Amino acid sequence: MERIKSAAIILAAGKGSRMETDIPKQFIVIHNKPVLYYALKAFEESNIDEIILVTSEETKKYCSDNIVKKYGLKKVSCIVEGGSERFHSVLNGLKAIDQSDYVLIHDGARPLIDIEMINEVIEYVQNSGGCIVATPVKETIKKIDNNHYIEETPKRSSLWAAQTPQAFRYDELLEAYINMSKDKEFGSMEITDDASVYEKYIRKPVKIIEGSYGNIKITTPEDLIFAEKVIELLKKI
Ligand code: CTP
Ligand code: MG
Repeated sequence: MERIKSAAIILAAGKGSRMETDIPKQFIVIHNKPVLYYALKAFEESNIDEIILVTSEETKKYCSDNIVKKYGLKKVSCIVEGGSERFHSVLNGLKAIDQSDYVLIHDGARPLIDIEMINEVIEYVQNSGGCIVATPVKETIKKIDNNHYIEETPKRSSLWAAQTPQAFRYDELLEAYINMSKDKEFGSMEITDDASVYEKYIRKPVKIIEGSYGNIKITTPEDLIFAEKVIELLKKI
């Protein structure tokens, strides 16, 4: 029997507008290394076979010289350019994969992902259509209208916060993204994760794997303090 192959797409083409720093958040240095390094390193040491790094045109060379080559990340097979929205970046990453049975998508702005969780996702996706890492929400979530009045309070016990990695059969996720890009409503869609594309265009079940509250997405300045401390405590430096 042929070996099962799995590839990872690491997204690092965002501008990080909510962080309000001069450089995109994935390149901010924590303990002497850029945020993006930590996720790449975890995937390098996991059971994944290949890593596709998606970044902007301006930062391609920096990523290649100062992260991939500098830290000897051998699984990074190519660095491709992203697009203006996250889903454009994912699509470019998917197109860059030559052949793979499964694909994991991960935000380059989530440096605290651990190797065991990546391996669990790789195992899990082989027995499910798709699976994503998520945690039960801690806060009560309100659905609001344009004027900031509450419209609805969904039951908290049924709400989970989606993280990455998110994993799918490669051919199915590619099909989902291509179908989405041809959709008439494509321009007005607000897409912030991959499972939502798979849910809409493939319509197969997606399983939740309970993750860790520590696997934060660096988004606003206080997240950096948390990440810095965790990296220090886990001796990832
Ligand atoms: N991302 C990407 N291409 C984009 C937008 C986002 O590759 N066009 C990546 C980011 O680099 C990040 C991940 O997707 O690793 C999650 O996105 P988000 O946290 O929204 O990052 P940004 O879009 O960079 O931040 P902001 O929304 O605050 O501008
Ligand atoms: Mg964004």
